[in-house]
Amino acid sequence: MNTEQERQAVRDWIAQAARIAVLTGAGMSAESGVPTFRDATSGHWAQFNPQDMASERGFRAAPARVWDWYAHRRQGVAAVQPNAGHLALAAFAQRHPGRLTVITQNVDGLHQRAGSTGVLCLHGDLMADRWLDTPRACCRLEAALPGSPPRCAACGNLVRPGVVWFGENLPAGVIEAAQQAAQDCELMLVVGTAGAVYPAAGLAHQARQAGARVAVINPAASELDSVAHAVLRGTAAQLLPQLLGEPCPHGAATPSGETA
Ligand code: APR
Repeated sequence: MNTEQERQAVRDWIAQAARIAVLTGAGMSAESGVPTFRDATSGHWAQFNPQDMASERGFRAAPARVWDWYAHRRQGVAAVQPNAGHLALAAFAQRHPGRLTVITQNVDGLHQRAGSTGVLCLHGDLMADRWLDTPRACCRLEAALPGSPPRCAACGNLVRPGVVWFGENLPAGVIEAAQQAAQDCELMLVVGTAGAVYPAAGLAHQARQAGARVAVINPAASELDSVAHAVLRGTAAQLLPQLLGEPCPHGAATPSGETA
């Protein structure tokens, strides 16, 4: 667990930091009930290998199946709401413009739906579409022919989800912006990530090496605990409102399930 003294220390660091970077992972969305990758490969989808489906090769081999799997995942995410942790981060950034940058490994779009802006989405955005091949002059996403998957009426280019697939590079410019935020911040909050996937996890090491304080928020041990000056054993929806001075916004999901 964590003590009030540890929480107060992190609150003081937040108050003192001119620039705060927040690195989030799947645990950030746990209290929103976002289906985990495992959930998304259950039932009918259990027969398919997710690594095949979350890859360009897999999409080219079975575009309709992969497109339908992502449509299924989009429905799952659209059915849930940002939690009190997402809302606390967005409210803090709105009260303190320019001080807080969210860097997320999540593709669920919940930070954006909570009101966070300028979110650095390292692994893309499940709700975003893009063309499979380099778009030609004829390719206009808003005019794509409906279908599974949609395609360009003029050249047949296929629409694909705007997420980073296995074997793909991170979106151009995003990791560079995240590294800059890690380099410049006085405080990094690491929330809800096992810290096992790079380059995302490397951002916490970079912040530490650049002289920032690092605080981990996670109910369980993570690979970034060793990088942290403070480790708060607790959940995102529980701790972030307490740390960021935001009352649980009315109607936001809280750990115990009742709304504030
Ligand atoms: N609040 C905060 N942290 C939580 C909560 C919660 N309510 N519930 C779980 N966690 C923590 C877990 O203890 C774990 O450390 O969230 C972390 C989730 O770890 P992973 O599922 O490995 O997710 P993540 O670290 O984001 O994975 C990184 O790997 O699967 C790929 O591309 C995918 O973006 C993902 C990347």
